[in-house]
Amino acid sequence: MSTDMSSASETDTLTSDAKRLSIRKMNKHYGDFHAVKDLDIEVEPGEFLVLLGPSGCGKSTALRMIAGLEEITSGEVIMGERDVTHVLPKYRDIAMVFQSYALYPHKTVAENIGFPLKVTGVPLEQRNQAVLDAAAQVQMETLLERYPRELSGGQRQRVALARAIIRRPSAFLMDEPLSNLDAKLRGFMRAELKHMQHELGVTTIYVTHDQIEAMTLAHRVAIMKDGELQQLGTPAEVYTNPTNLFVAGFMGSPPMNFIEGTLSQGSIQVGNDKIFLQGAQEGTAVTMGFRPEDADVVEAGEGRFDAMVYTAEMTGDLTLVTVKHGQSILTIKMPKDFVVDYDQKVGIQFDSGLSYLFSTSDGSRLKAIVVDS
Ligand SMILES: Nc1ncnc2c1ncn2[C@@H]1O[C@H](COP(=O)(O)OP(=O)(O)O)[C@@H](O)[C@H]1O
Ligand SMILES: [Mg+2]
Repeated sequence: MSTDMSSASETDTLTSDAKRLSIRKMNKHYGDFHAVKDLDIEVEPGEFLVLLGPSGCGKSTALRMIAGLEEITSGEVIMGERDVTHVLPKYRDIAMVFQSYALYPHKTVAENIGFPLKVTGVPLEQRNQAVLDAAAQVQMETLLERYPRELSGGQRQRVALARAIIRRPSAFLMDEPLSNLDAKLRGFMRAELKHMQHELGVTTIYVTHDQIEAMTLAHRVAIMKDGELQQLGTPAEVYTNPTNLFVAGFMGSPPMNFIEGTLSQGSIQVGNDKIFLQGAQEGTAVTMGFRPEDADVVEAGEGRFDAMVYTAEMTGDLTLVTVKHGQSILTIKMPKDFVVDYDQKVGIQFDSGLSYLFSTSDGSRLKAIVVDS
């Protein structure tokens, strides 16, 4: 879109040949602890892949193995045609960006950005041009003579990004690079980062525990739990078609609503109401899920089941109604002008076609469906 803004030479300097990144049966054992389990991911050339999961699930360990900073217990890392499994990090042709910016405090912005080229002996004139190009990519070209202490958190992270892109690597590996920024700046930098990755077309693996970040940045998301890949797909795929209870509950804000029950005579009992299911075996403990945006608060008795209003929160563009039903707390997204009273008895309606059923025991997605009674 902005090609007319950037000169041909700028594009030439910054565009690298995107490479495929293949991670094959990658494992990490720390003594008895199996931190990463048979991780298999093919990252397409130029793809923005997000590795997403809760804290401690093995994301950083996986990324560090791909970078060569952590020894691989077993498996392979292939970049393009080249097996780099046992290649030192500096020869892997990757650039890493971390949560902590790790800038040199006594070097200016320009010196920090140009440092990777200085180390490799790139002549001064060529280096200066590359610094200007990289700084322009992150809108830091007017602050080149500043020192890190004279920059905001967001500006420091931009310098770290510029230092990563100046080397024209075949891949970017980023580990929660925005998590030290405040919410507003994080949102802004997220858009910048996405734009930059698009412009540069560099194969990228980005680690985060933040599902909104994953949804907004990724071409595809790889969701991990306890060292194991749960699902790999586009944001829309993992959101609308989660393979299991974990993925369903992890993606979405507010999260999917869940109601547990045991299938008896074709239905599960929800308070005084019954929800009819088809395709699940009698006696199966099932968890039914529906998303906050796929349900409505209606008059008591008019929905699939009744519940009591717990709170209503007007967020600006909508009203989040939280209801209590037995032990379950459920959240429904309603229009911003929707009004309910605390402790009011209401009905909850949801679209049977947009509901999900899981086995409560192992979390697997069931083929069963909710039927309209
Ligand atoms: N050097 C280490 N020795 C032993 N266990 C480790 C080591 N590094 C990480 N772990 C463990 O491996 C698991 C995954 O860690 P990590 O990859 O940092 O998770 P994440 O980045 O998803 O939060 C955690 O349980 C962590 O405690
Ligand atoms: Mg981590």
